[in-house]
Amino acid sequence: MQPFHYLVYALALLQLGGVSAENSTFQNPIISGFHPDPSCIFVPEFDSTWFCVSSSFLAFPGLPIHASKDLIHWKHVSNAFSRADQLPGMAFLPKATSGIYAPTLRFREGIFYLTTTLVNQQLPRVNDSRWDNFLLTTEDPYTSDAWSDPVHFSFPGFDPSPFWDEDGKTYVSGAHTAAYYPGIMHAPLDLETGEIGEIIMPWNGTGGASPEAPHIFKRDGWYYLLLAEGGTREHHMVTMARSRSLQGPYEPAPNNPLLTAASDTSSYFQAVGHADLFQDANGNWWGVALAVRAGGSYGEAPYSANFPIGRETVLTPVTWDEGGWPIFTPISGTMSGWPLPETAVPSQGEGQLSDADDNITFAPGTQLPIHFIHWRLPKLRNYVVSPPGHWNTLALKSSVLNLTGFDGDFALGRGQTFVGRRMAHSLFRFRIDVDWANSLMKEEMEVGVSVIQDQAQHFDLGVVMLKSTAQGSSGEVKPYLRFRGHSETPYHGLLGAPSEVYELPEDWAGRKLTLQIEAVNSTHFAFSAGPAGDEGELRVFGYCRGDELVPYYSGVVLGVYATTNGKYGENAFETYVSNWRYTGLKQFTSQEDVDGSDRG
Ligand SMILES: *[C@@H]1O[C@H](CO)[C@@H](O)[C@H](O)[C@H]1NC(C)=O
Ligand SMILES: *[C@@H]1O[C@H](CO)[C@@H](O)[C@H](O)[C@H]1NC(C)=O
Ligand SMILES: *[C@@H]1O[C@H](CO)[C@@H](O)[C@H](O)[C@H]1NC(C)=O
Ligand SMILES: *[C@@H]1O[C@H](CO)[C@@H](O)[C@H](O)[C@H]1NC(C)=O
Ligand SMILES: *[C@@H]1O[C@H](CO)[C@@H](O)[C@H](O)[C@H]1NC(C)=O
Repeated sequence: MQPFHYLVYALALLQLGGVSAENSTFQNPIISGFHPDPSCIFVPEFDSTWFCVSSSFLAFPGLPIHASKDLIHWKHVSNAFSRADQLPGMAFLPKATSGIYAPTLRFREGIFYLTTTLVNQQLPRVNDSRWDNFLLTTEDPYTSDAWSDPVHFSFPGFDPSPFWDEDGKTYVSGAHTAAYYPGIMHAPLDLETGEIGEIIMPWNGTGGASPEAPHIFKRDGWYYLLLAEGGTREHHMVTMARSRSLQGPYEPAPNNPLLTAASDTSSYFQAVGHADLFQDANGNWWGVALAVRAGGSYGEAPYSANFPIGRETVLTPVTWDEGGWPIFTPISGTMSGWPLPETAVPSQGEGQLSDADDNITFAPGTQLPIHFIHWRLPKLRNYVVSPPGHWNTLALKSSVLNLTGFDGDFALGRGQTFVGRRMAHSLFRFRIDVDWANSLMKEEMEVGVSVIQDQAQHFDLGVVMLKSTAQGSSGEVKPYLRFRGHSETPYHGLLGAPSEVYELPEDWAGRKLTLQIEAVNSTHFAFSAGPAGDEGELRVFGYCRGDELVPYYSGVVLGVYATTNGKYGENAFETYVSNWRYTGLKQFTSQEDVDGSDRG
């Protein structure tokens, strides 16, 4: 061949599979909003597609599976937990920090394996009772219904991660948590029966708090054990150790922590940790981790930062030479790394891109989109799309419990009527129309919109029936607009619980109303209402601050509720929601973005 032909040949090779020769540029987070504890794999057998799962805590459906062909565009393709009877115990979990913790996703010989834990924070840590560990499998990650029922296994901890050794034996690693006993456990695990062998604790980390999220990788004759340490907030970090034997002893990496933002308060991405590692078609390594877009003040009183979105999924290129240790690139908003395939979105799957807008009309014959979530298990009869006589609406039947609820109520398995979606942008607008006039009849019947982090942190704007306090009134019930909420965390105690009531403007009476929540800047959410179809008439009735919705384990969700606030019985009224719109307006990926936007 002539030199010219060599060149053409080389270029053609580099372009194989649509992979460009140039290093890539991408934006973090790759999956924005409440998508913590990512675990991802590259599956050449499935048309060279990457798949990720993230923690879902009390959200149902849960365990969202995202797929990508370029590591940049992520489509929500299924939910591994989509049938209430997979985990009936989810209905009875008290405490906002209960639910499904860190899953691990792996692929082997045609089967996807997902191991995770349903945690009941109310039960003691000392024995197995708090942790319900289980395995789900599928051969079709694009279909929620194809995910199996769980195989439960008895393991006194959480963050289970499976590992297949070269001799064909299967193991699980996980985090042991009793405060006086923290460390990483390994045990043989029979993936068919859930039978567990003898548990050993071969490495307990570098001394950081809460060693957890273990994953094992076998390379070049070494067993590499990847960990998270420091707790999932400001001291979060990624550490590693390796051994020639799975049983240890493990030798820590000389440069631990391998990835963290703990000492970098200039980074907009904080709490970086809980990583997983995988390769691409060229054999280059990548890491995912969770991060919080909090700015450097995360964790500093008096909590002035706006960090309302939650723990999100971020991506970083990794260099991992033979016989060496992985080198992670620190997380930032705009990053460059190994060459990636040309932009493409998987054609299969049930949902939409992770940062897509919503324009949902609840047309007859449709179902709720797969990214819509409830808290704990829903009573499905309370949510009906386009019932006869109310086409293009979502009919909601009320619950006795409102969004605050109390642990005792949840322990009884009582549901709340609520459906929402994750906040996926720094600035967004969310609105619905509601036909309430023939629904709300008695005192404390209420339908509204909420921005909710969990049962202890939410702000709501609702139409509610209350006894008239007007002079000369005989105490009859009338519709009002009520803005109220609750913000209480272990970190700052009870911050606020506004409760403001407004007379419904006279010419709004009986009309369908638009209820809207908008992130107006980096620090505040505004709650507005007005007659439906008349944007010009929207009026603000309240504000709350982002730092009153601190991401604890889950993340911010926007949605609608219908409740009788503790009165009457279940399903005391039915109301109709329509024109569900969520519009992403802006993504902040640096402190400069925040400052620039706030200066207007
Ligand atoms: C880790 O901690 C456990 C529990 O305290 C202990 O039994 C084990 O020996 C420790 N492992 C190592 C390698 O130090
Ligand atoms: C391409 O990205 C990799 C991974 O981050 C990095 O090691 C390498 O230096 C980059 N190459 C160029 C030419 O920038
Ligand atoms: C939303 O969907 C409706 C019905 O499909 C359509 O008429 C409308 O133009 C859409 N609006 C936007 C902003 O996409
Ligand atoms: C929720 O309902 C309870 C009654 O079950 C009531 O005491 C409480 O004030 C309500 N609060 C909020 C903020 O939802
Ligand atoms: C955001 O908007 C609210 C409400 O208008 C205002 O009080 C607050 O000062 C604004 N914050 C910034 C950082 O501009």
